Amino acid sequence: TDVAPGFPAPTKHTQEAHSPLDDFTARWTRADAKQLKAMSDTTAGSRENSMPEEYTMPTVSQDFPDMSNEKVWVWDTWPLTDEDANQYSVNGQEIIFSLVADRKLGFDERHQYARIGYFYRPAGVPAADRPENGGWTYGGQVFDEGVTGKIFEDQSYSHQTQWSGSARVTKNGEIKLFFTDVAFYRDKSGNDIKAYDPRIALSVGHVHANKKGVKFTGFNKVTDLLQADGKLYQNAEQNQFFNFRDPFTFEDPAHPGETYMVFEGNTAQKRDEAQCTAEDLGYNEGETNGETVAEVNKSGATYQIGNVGLARATNKDLTKWEFLPPILSANCVTDQTERPQIYMKDGKYYLFTISHRSTFAAGIDGPEGVYGFVGNGIRSDYQPLNRGSGLALGSPTNLNFAAGTPFAPDYNQHPGQFQAYSHYVMPNGLVQSFIDTIGTKDNFVRGGTLGPTVRLNIEGASATVDRSYGNLGLGGWADIPSNRELKVNGAV
Ligand code: FRU
Repeated sequence: TDVAPGFPAPTKHTQEAHSPLDDFTARWTRADAKQLKAMSDTTAGSRENSMPEEYTMPTVSQDFPDMSNEKVWVWDTWPLTDEDANQYSVNGQEIIFSLVADRKLGFDERHQYARIGYFYRPAGVPAADRPENGGWTYGGQVFDEGVTGKIFEDQSYSHQTQWSGSARVTKNGEIKLFFTDVAFYRDKSGNDIKAYDPRIALSVGHVHANKKGVKFTGFNKVTDLLQADGKLYQNAEQNQFFNFRDPFTFEDPAHPGETYMVFEGNTAQKRDEAQCTAEDLGYNEGETNGETVAEVNKSGATYQIGNVGLARATNKDLTKWEFLPPILSANCVTDQTERPQIYMKDGKYYLFTISHRSTFAAGIDGPEGVYGFVGNGIRSDYQPLNRGSGLALGSPTNLNFAAGTPFAPDYNQHPGQFQAYSHYVMPNGLVQSFIDTIGTKDNFVRGGTLGPTVRLNIEGASATVDRSYGNLGLGGWADIPSNRELKVNGAV
C-alpha cells in the first residue's frame, strides 16, 4: 500500500490466530493510528469533512424524530441476541435495551443517572412502512430502583448507575442481561470522595410478549461477575479514572462449549508511571517518519492506554468468569475502546469498538466512530481495517480543526462531527448509533435518540459505507431489525 508523504507505514499484522488462553495481545499501534491523519485531506476547509467519503457516515439532518416521544434521553442501545449475535423478536415483538435518563437532566449529565430501559415494536415491518421515528414503544426501566445498588459493599454511594452491556436470550425466554453496575462516591460539589466502582454484572429474567406489548419478570437480583484486577486490567488504585465496562458475550465455533466475553479495559499500569514500548509504537524497521519511545513517553500519550479485555465463563450458568489477557491494546493510541463486540463473517473474526476523538493520545487524531480489526480467531494478530488505520465508520469530521465539545463544537467543525456515537454493528453489516449533537457552533441541537441505521460492506480488511442502502446511505431512524424469531409462552 502507498503511504502518504511524511507519514509512517502501518505496522505489519499477520491476522494469525492464537489460542484464546494464550498470552498474546494484538496492538493497535501508533503507526497504525497515524494512518487516520494520513488519510485526512489537509486542504479541507472550514466545516468540510476531511476524511474519505467511503469511511464516513452520510450527514444526518437536524430535524431528526425522537424515538421515545420525548419520554427519556436515549443513548447506548443493544438488541436481544443469541450466542452468535443474531437478533430476536419474541412472539412477534422486536426488543431493544437502551441507556436512558430523565429529560430534565442536561444530556451531558446523563452518565451518573443512567438506567437500562427497553423498547419494543412489531417485527417484520419494512423500515419504510414504519412511523418515521422507528415505531418503538418505550416499555420503561428494566430494574426496580435499588436492585442494582445491592452488590456494593460500601453503600455510601452518591450515585448508582447502570451502564452498557448486552442481552442473551435462550429458547425458553430466559434473558441474561450483562451490564456494567457502577457506584459513584461524590461530595455535593461533584468531587470524588473515593474512586468510582464499575463492575461487570449479570441479572437473569424472563421475557413475556404478545400483541399488547412486552414485560419482564425476575430482574430482581444482580450477580457481581468481574472487577478490574490490577494485573491484566487497570484498577482504581492504579488510576482513579480507569475504564472497565461494557460486557458483550458470545460463543466461538472454533471452541465449542465455551462462552467468552469482551469488554472495555485499560492496560494495568499506574497512571503516572505508565510507559509505552517500541511494540506499542509499531514502526517497521527503517521507518524514517517514526518516533522514539522516549519522546512518546514524554508527550503525555501514556495517559491513553485502552484495551479490549477477554474473559471466559467457568460455569454453564455464566455466573462465574475468569480473566484472560486482553485481545487488543491501544497503548499511547486511545484511552477508550468502548462497547467492544465480536462479529463473524466468511470465517473471519472482526473486533469492533468505539472511540471518541477526544480520547486519542497526544500525537494521534481521528474521528468519533467505530473502529474495526480483522483476524483469524478471537485472539489473533488483528489487522486494523481500512488502510491499516482501524477506522470502520466515522462521523464527518475535519481533522484540520479542533473538535470542541458536543455542547460547544469548534467554530470550524463539520456539523456532523458529533452526529453519531456508540455504534453497534448488527447482522448484515447494519450499524446503529445514537445522536449526540448535530450542527455548527452557532446552530446545533442535542440528540438523545438513535440516528439513522447505515450499512457497511465488510470484506476482508475493508469496511465501506453502502450508499445504495436507504436514502443515499441513510436507512430508517432507530431501525434495529430482528433476523430471528422466538416463540415462548407467557402472558403480558
Ligand atoms: C459509551 C459509554 C459506554 C458506557 C456508557 C455510559 O457511550 O461511554 O462505554 O457504558 O456510555 O453512559
